[in-house]
Amino acid sequence: MFRTIEWLDDTREVKLVDQTKLPLATKHIVTSSHERVAKSIKIMEIRGAPAIGAAAGMGMALAAIESKAKTKNNLLDFLRKAAVTLNTRPTAVNLTWATTRMLRVAEAAEDGVDQIVEILVGEGKEIAEEDVRMCQSMGKHALSVIESGFVIQTICNAGSLATVHLGTVGAVVRVAHEKYGGNIEVYAVETRPRQQGARLTVFEFMEDGIDTTLITDGMIGTVFREGRIDCCVVGADRILKTGHVINKIGTYTMAITAKFHKIPFYVAAPMSTIDMETNPADVVIEERDGDEIRIINGKYITVPTTKVYNPAFDMTPPELITAIITDKGIVEVPNKRKILEIHKKID
Ligand code: MRU
Repeated sequence: MFRTIEWLDDTREVKLVDQTKLPLATKHIVTSSHERVAKSIKIMEIRGAPAIGAAAGMGMALAAIESKAKTKNNLLDFLRKAAVTLNTRPTAVNLTWATTRMLRVAEAAEDGVDQIVEILVGEGKEIAEEDVRMCQSMGKHALSVIESGFVIQTICNAGSLATVHLGTVGAVVRVAHEKYGGNIEVYAVETRPRQQGARLTVFEFMEDGIDTTLITDGMIGTVFREGRIDCCVVGADRILKTGHVINKIGTYTMAITAKFHKIPFYVAAPMSTIDMETNPADVVIEERDGDEIRIINGKYITVPTTKVYNPAFDMTPPELITAIITDKGIVEVPNKRKILEIHKKID
């Protein structure tokens, strides 16, 4: 798989794959504007928690270049505004995590403005490289729970396209696929309304020659009952210190159904997705435009004036989760003590 997002050293631009066009066309957006990166995040040309974190990091680096600031104070003012501009989606913690990290680096630097700009470019690139390393590490840790011959069900897209490269669930599947000589299968849930499962997960796993079957969201219980699935592995947009996992709408229903059928339910996410501050009641779940549900392929498929409720994410409590697969190891039956313990392992 290609890289979802990269920094172009020669032109000091950001290049990202336009995910709204996939799988029918592979188009890229190349920009030197942090506002254009913010727009890409908002309209989901780039999406997936780690990928938008990396985009926000590089967006901050672009902002530093764009600021043309002569003093550190002016640069910091510009960067604080850029951080607000880039935070266009509320649920994935990786966005604020990346913009805050970039701001902290700028604040702590004791160099001249030009050097701080270069430090920020380096930090933006490093966030992306770290993401690749974290995914590789998750894939390796997951081998202790994924066996040869497993059929893995996933929702949404937590593959390469949701990260910089490889994916979270993507890494779990790809590393096991390689280790077990291709003896791994995937069931991808379509994921209404934006169909990230059908459009993106199916596309990228099939590109890599991984045996993939597409099902609609309503078929989850049936494939469990029919014994087709060995385990579920899903991504996360935010994991709270309590062990609650916020992920794509439908994850909670899948976890409840998996528990009923005694199917292990794993969450794969890097440490950058763990939020040690927010309590479950305070998580902001993004509500998206009702037309995402009313319209398919440019045509209304319902009464155009119908009311719609369209939360993009849901929250799964820890008692439904078998384990969280992180880049620092596996947290079985997550709880506050175990999450605190693994969080201490961040370098
Ligand atoms: O609305 P999206 O497409 O950004 O939602 C993405 C998801 O919910 C993913 O499962 C999550 O970000 C984990 S990605 C590794």
